[in-house]
Amino acid sequence: MLSPLPGDDHHQPTCPHCGHLLEYRPGRILDPFAGTGTTGEAAWREGFSAVLIEREAAYQADIRRRMKLALGGHDERKRESIKARHGDVEAGPLFSNLGAAE
Ligand SMILES: C[S@@+](CC[C@H](N)C(=O)[O-])C[C@H]1O[C@@H](n2cnc3c(N)ncnc32)[C@H](O)[C@@H]1O
Repeated sequence: MLSPLPGDDHHQPTCPHCGHLLEYRPGRILDPFAGTGTTGEAAWREGFSAVLIEREAAYQADIRRRMKLALGGHDERKRESIKARHGDVEAGPLFSNLGAAE
């Protein structure tokens, strides 16, 4: 379903009939049953745009969360992963009483 990005000569196939290199064109992925958006995220990671259709509101929310994390980068993914495992982590008492000391 995904075709390689333009310039990806290493994986450029040839026509089995004439032997000519096949031309790649950037694509847009349509997933009409998007679920939690695995295909959509994979498409985005491979440099394609994607149109996702999903009827369940809970899965739509999953897709939004997934793409926010994907776009947010490493630090945000790490924070969310810690939060998922340990819940919201308090900052701790170290700086909580600064006002009282003054
Ligand atoms: C197996 S999941 C798809 C997985 C997805 N393609 C992926 O990349 O992870 C199928 C999804 O299709 C959705 N679905 C089923 N019928 C639908 C419809 N008529 N319109 C929109 N979504 C639909 C379901 O809610 C379910 O989340």
